[in-house]
Amino acid sequence: MSLPVNYGEAVLLLDEERKKSFLFVLREGGEIGTHKGRLLHKDIVGKKEGSLVLSSTGARFRIFRPSIVDKMMKVQRKTQIVYPKDASWLILALDIRPGMRIIEIGTGSGAFTMLLAQLVGKEGRIYTFDRREDFLENARQNIRRAGLEDRVVFSLLNAGDLFPVNNVDAVFLDLPEPWLAISPSWDALLPGRPLATIVPTAEQLKRTVESLIENGFLVMDVVEILERRILVRKKEGVRPFEKMVGFTGYLISSRKIIEE
Ligand SMILES: C[S@@+](CC[C@H](N)C(=O)[O-])C[C@H]1O[C@@H](n2cnc3c(N)ncnc32)[C@H](O)[C@@H]1O
Repeated sequence: MSLPVNYGEAVLLLDEERKKSFLFVLREGGEIGTHKGRLLHKDIVGKKEGSLVLSSTGARFRIFRPSIVDKMMKVQRKTQIVYPKDASWLILALDIRPGMRIIEIGTGSGAFTMLLAQLVGKEGRIYTFDRREDFLENARQNIRRAGLEDRVVFSLLNAGDLFPVNNVDAVFLDLPEPWLAISPSWDALLPGRPLATIVPTAEQLKRTVESLIENGFLVMDVVEILERRILVRKKEGVRPFEKMVGFTGYLISSRKIIEE
């Protein structure tokens, strides 16, 4: 089913040439300014996804409903966020499925929370924690804009404190000192279920792995993901782009073990 886009809906306006995009909600009387001229919302309403629209300067744009990655990349950022290349690995490591209950600390800008919330569906719950009230509020607004607020419980918590929920299906840690939250995570997790984390330095990586082992987790994998974009051109030849994101973080996956 592909209904035309309408007022009140979020749309992604994509510059066909440069792949620069704009995410906004269609409003009566609305207008969007771009690097290549302006477009009136009324000229977008009624178009099907994938349609061509022209700006005031005649530049070509395409209309899409935003994907979850589009929404993650456009959150109001107060912190570093988990990038899509890492997010996809982490989602598999966390074995996320509809209906699951998941703990996350720290919430940050809520980019990864948003992805978790979409994947667990209406019946699932994400319990997300951060020590900063202002970050929690910003993340709440980001997730509200994505229409996923009903699946997320936001709470203030300092890593190391016991989580107010237990029997959860997975734990994700994204904070500078993940080892502080490892013992409370073991208490909150169902037996055998995964804990995954991302850390930016080798020192944090080593300390986290040691702490996981000491606190009853089996470390499954430690990886760094490199993503290289490829230029596919008609005349000049096909080759990788010169620039790439050099490093985002080390990823660790583990599972809770029990002595029985
Ligand atoms: C890199 S951000 C998380 C980004 C988030 N995953 C996203 O995709 O938007 C790290 C967060 O951890 C929080 N944090 C740092 N230390 C903490 C602690 N000891 N207890 C709770 N939260 C903490 C910070 O306030 C910050 O919001």
